[in-house]
Amino acid sequence: MPAHLIAPSLLSCDFLRLGEETRMLENAQADWLHLDVMDGNFVPNISFGLPIISAVKKISTKPLDVHLMIVQPEKYIQAFRDAGADHISVHYEACTHLHRTVHQIRETGAKAGIAINPHTPVELLFDVLEDIDLVILMSVNPGFGGQKFIYRSLDKIRRLRREIDSRNLSVDIEVDGGVGLQNIEVILQAGASVLVAGNAVFQAPDPADMIAKLKAVSVGNFV
Ligand code: DX5
Ligand code: ZN
Repeated sequence: MPAHLIAPSLLSCDFLRLGEETRMLENAQADWLHLDVMDGNFVPNISFGLPIISAVKKISTKPLDVHLMIVQPEKYIQAFRDAGADHISVHYEACTHLHRTVHQIRETGAKAGIAINPHTPVELLFDVLEDIDLVILMSVNPGFGGQKFIYRSLDKIRRLRREIDSRNLSVDIEVDGGVGLQNIEVILQAGASVLVAGNAVFQAPDPADMIAKLKAVSVGNFV
């Protein structure tokens, strides 16, 4: 099992210091930068959009992992790609023509992801697994950082891992919401390969050190 990846979520950073926070991630052991776009419609919160992604792109060499929590995401895929997104994930619950939308993402050259809410069974993705590069498995209801991890998600991770491995696919399982040192081991054990961490990183006294700690966790006897 290759080492897991850590994707700090800039939603929890100090926006007045966006440049410094991005540079800190650049120099720390962060693997991807997770960017949460919210429209106040798909989720009950509004975060940021294209200008912030373009700004971060200017000073970051790491993959920008853009999580679109917006309705009709198909309208904005090219724009997010042009702004610098390396991965674009859309919500299962926001797409009527999901298969078409993920192919639209791949055609831009970006990696395609699908995010699913806590109530959505992973089995609903089985017919598009071959068309995507990652699944964002939400372990909180999307909209806000700093929420509690929903432990029922562990079983969803296991079910998805079993399916991906049985078909020999290389789809990443990215777990998003309430991840920290207190639960990262069980999440990895269940089969996650990428962990998003917002508050765990940015509320820590030393965010770079927290990223190093999250990276250093290893799962003994992983089967
Ligand atoms: C929630 C977002 C998450 C959030 C995670 O809607 O998708 O990426 O920033 O933050 P924490 O790690 O604090 O739960
Ligand atoms: Zn997210």
